[in-house]
Amino acid sequence: MTVLFIGGSRRKDSLNTKLKHRLAEVADKNGIRYELVDADALDAPIYHGDLEAADGVPEPMKKLGEKIQAASKVVLVSPEYNSSVSPLVKNAIDWVSRLDTGAWSGKTVLLAAASPGGLGGLRAVSHLRDILANVKAWTAPVCASCPNASAEAIAAMDESFLKSFLEQGKD
Ligand SMILES: Cc1cc2nc3c(=O)[nH]c(=O)nc-3n(C[C@H](O)[C@H](O)[C@H](O)COP(=O)(O)O)c2cc1C
Repeated sequence: MTVLFIGGSRRKDSLNTKLKHRLAEVADKNGIRYELVDADALDAPIYHGDLEAADGVPEPMKKLGEKIQAASKVVLVSPEYNSSVSPLVKNAIDWVSRLDTGAWSGKTVLLAAASPGGLGGLRAVSHLRDILANVKAWTAPVCASCPNASAEAIAAMDESFLKSFLEQGKD
């Protein structure tokens, strides 16, 4: 089974995408099978009931739902905007929640965030726990947060901690 890495941001120098890649690197080193989803794959129109009624769930969101369903665990990395989750991540969660497959239901989700601020995106992580509980996902207790984030700070995150973070939940 495969661990699915999703999230980050579409910004060229995204710190959260760097954190996602760092986590994937640790997975790779430790023989954990994984799939990395580019942040661009989360791009979809803002959820709109009329759009859904006319055209259904957008294809990229269907694909994302299939990947989530097939994964053993999901690692979800989100920037923090105004103390909450990024719209890119929230919108993808919303669209996927509209699929009949219930892709999130029972899924173990490991949460991670990076921010140049001192709280490391922890308030986004906290909101993600509530949002994901609503779609019946299980969020792991330990998150991987990088406060005062920079490329260097992310590279310097303790590898054994990141490994134990990735090992949470069943394989
Ligand atoms: C509209 C906006 C709101 C933000 N609010 C917060 C915040 O509440 N907490 C925080 O730690 N950083 C906040 N930031 C800073 C982001 O964490 C920072 O821009 C980060 O680099 C974005 O993630 P990325 O590097 O992955 O693109 C905010 C940035 C923007 C543009």
